[in-house]
Amino acid sequence: MKLGVVGLGYVGIVSSLGFAELGFNVVGVDVDTARVESLSKGRPPVFEPGLEDYLKRNMKRAGGSGGGGVAVFTTDYTRLLGCDVVFITVGTPPREGGGQNLEYFEGAVKMLREVGFRGVVVPRSTVLPGTTERVVAPLFEHVGYNPEFLAEGSAFRDFFNPDKIVLGYSDGVALEALRKVYSPFNAPKLELGVREAELVKYANNAFLALKVAYADEVGNIAKKLGVDVYRVMDAVGLDRRIGRAFLNAGIGFGGSCFPKDLAALIHLSRDLGYEPVLLDALLEQNRRQPLMLVDLLRTRVRERLGRPSLRGLRVGVLGLAFKPNTDDVREAPSIRVVSALLDEGVEVHAYDPRAEENFRRLSPRFSSNVVYHATAKECVEACEAVLILTEWEEFRDASLYGGRLVLEGRRVLGVEGVCW
Ligand SMILES: NC(=O)c1ccc[n+]([C@@H]2O[C@H](COP(=O)([O-])OP(=O)(O)OC[C@H]3O[C@@H](n4cnc5c(N)ncnc54)[C@H](O)[C@@H]3O)[C@@H](O)[C@H]2O)c1
Repeated sequence: MKLGVVGLGYVGIVSSLGFAELGFNVVGVDVDTARVESLSKGRPPVFEPGLEDYLKRNMKRAGGSGGGGVAVFTTDYTRLLGCDVVFITVGTPPREGGGQNLEYFEGAVKMLREVGFRGVVVPRSTVLPGTTERVVAPLFEHVGYNPEFLAEGSAFRDFFNPDKIVLGYSDGVALEALRKVYSPFNAPKLELGVREAELVKYANNAFLALKVAYADEVGNIAKKLGVDVYRVMDAVGLDRRIGRAFLNAGIGFGGSCFPKDLAALIHLSRDLGYEPVLLDALLEQNRRQPLMLVDLLRTRVRERLGRPSLRGLRVGVLGLAFKPNTDDVREAPSIRVVSALLDEGVEVHAYDPRAEENFRRLSPRFSSNVVYHATAKECVEACEAVLILTEWEEFRDASLYGGRLVLEGRRVLGVEGVCW
């Protein structure tokens, strides 16, 4: 069986190399020439643990050593014509004012149609329920939907060891093809309608986001009570009906998925005539949470450093990525924290082992009004106060901080934090 993957972002790269590792020949297509060239030369275009090794192994197999599947990367859609199944993994970013920007998704589907592809088409991009039926089904006979649940930072591990595999299908041909593709995986497989499969992805992400926002809210209350929210959540999480995962209180969730998927689901819900009060509150809670850390900083600076405001204070921000082990800064809490600090006239210094370049690109303000450092030590030493925003392993070294005021947005050191 030969597979195609259209869109070589985090999901597309991991899917291409993952399926190749399992023995499939894969054609990976992207419109970004630089990205395709970089992958073809074995150079990771994004940071993801293990990616460099998987690219090397793929190149070895391509060179004929060891046999097995090979992923090739190209900008040429016609190379997809020999594939049995083509997965679509292009980005589906948020649209201004809510909803989903389907420009890349519709573009990819159209290009696939234009080259005359006749096999099974299976979106893996996160698309709102009804999208596959509306955009893909009119152009192709055999259509499926197969959501991806991987998390950046552990993407390969998640790809090979999923908790579940959701096979959405519109006809027997699509279902049979998906069963074959996923035959090497030992995970529960759920065969669902395409719309159901699309909604599973949103319901899944919204629930995880809900757990985070809930832990943050309990954390805000716990802080006022002088109680350690982590000890509370350790106890709560032992309830099998709840589970401990995603109950780490902090400065809220970010990333390319939770905020945009929630916003899209809220938008769809309103379109359908239903007011999603719970999801709305969840987004609002998450919007406020990073700013709680800035409030805390203001208070402690006044109390401990005797300064009436943050203006002119040198603050070191450790961690810009939305979580450790990734260079992704999309919707990261650091965006709101750094913006708020700049608004208050703070001299912002920053360090992130991987995400500096992506962060600089987010806005002219971030590229010219923030002082970036090559190491955490250098950043800390330049500052009077430090905020830890991402739980990168290297920030756990307590000797880094001297006697400075350090406040945490993620629990790394166990010093005072946003809700502990
Ligand atoms: N990143 C994650 O952790 C994650 C996890 C699960 C699901 N998803 C979903 O998967 C989808 C992809 O996410 P991502 O983070 O991998 O995206 P990304 O933004 O990292 O990459 C998307 C890629 O698609 C390419 N592209 C755009 N238009 C194209 C076209 N017409 N033809 C070929 N390539 C095209 C872009 O050049 C880019 O390389 C999204 O819908 C996302 O919500 C993401």
